[in-house]
Amino acid sequence: VQGPVTVTVTGAAGQIGYALLFRIASGHLLGPDVPVKLRLLEITPALKAAEGTAMELADCAFPLLQSVDISDDPRVAFDGANVALLVGARPRTKGMERGDLLEANGGIFKPQGEAINAVAADDIKVLVVGNPANTNALIAQAHAPDVPAERFTAMTRLDHNRAISQLASKLDVPVSAIKKLTIWGNHSATQYPDLYHAEVNGKIAAEQVDASWLKDEFIPTVAKRGAAIIEARGASSAASAANAAIDHVYTWVNGTPEGDWTSAAIPSDGSYGVPEGLISSFPVTAKGGKFEIVQGLEIDAFSRERIDASVQELAEERDAVRQLGLI
Ligand code: NAI
Repeated sequence: VQGPVTVTVTGAAGQIGYALLFRIASGHLLGPDVPVKLRLLEITPALKAAEGTAMELADCAFPLLQSVDISDDPRVAFDGANVALLVGARPRTKGMERGDLLEANGGIFKPQGEAINAVAADDIKVLVVGNPANTNALIAQAHAPDVPAERFTAMTRLDHNRAISQLASKLDVPVSAIKKLTIWGNHSATQYPDLYHAEVNGKIAAEQVDASWLKDEFIPTVAKRGAAIIEARGASSAASAANAAIDHVYTWVNGTPEGDWTSAAIPSDGSYGVPEGLISSFPVTAKGGKFEIVQGLEIDAFSRERIDASVQELAEERDAVRQLGLI
């Protein structure tokens, strides 16, 4: 990557935005030699807060940061964007039905998809962080017919990193000892963190832990970690989410190391029985700026049941947004 690379961040004045922008500007998103132009998209009432963050970015005097522009208009914010981090979303509030949540997010991700289609750079890469991330990505993608479908991805890297950390701590090994971990399915409580293909110092992880820990502790701890953070911190995970977004894009652009893979929600090509087109998390490698689904893994009955349940949830979300006319 040569650069300068134009990076658009939506929800820039939010908590994840605050944890994300400084790391992008210091070279962690793309690499230590790649100049960056930042575009911040916010809703009108949050523009002033975004201005404040931009002042702080200026005060860091980051050598790689060439410019910071702020807008409340997606057509301005995505103009020429090479990377788009869609962080801003409508959270579920008390008493909100799923249909209302999807509809409110359709109101955000449809115009953003249209704007990306109209004005982004030809090599645009999109990562959706804002929840429900997989389905929001599907909505944006549906309104960007001129952008190759595979450029729309959603984030399960935080779940991936959480799973690695839980396993490393259980086995008392460094996180670097763990390879080939996979998060399958939806970024939700149904996600399936897979230890049957993960390796610890070259040995299958599931064989290093007892089955009851895997089933009754590991899987629920990873899946419910977001709620545990809210309970402890009084606010949802922000720095770790920003870190995972950085990891996702860095890997996408710079590739996965030999002998390892990562997890990302990308459009299914039908692999592993996941209906084509669903944006579902898979084991993926990245090379030359493209994600590819790792092929040929054997899926046993235990894993099959869990992957199917999460994929089923994704299919239901897709059907719901279809019924709402959002895709
Ligand atoms: P936040 O509420 O602190 O910030 C969200 C920001 O988005 C606000 O500043 C808001 O003004 C802005 N926004 C709302 N609508 C917008 C629009 N149409 N265009 C531009 N900006 C808009 O929320 P936080 O903590 O930063 O989280 C953001 C999202 O990330 C949430 O949906 C959260 O659920 C999700 N998330 C996803 C994770 C994942 O692993 N995929 C992990 C953690 C959070």
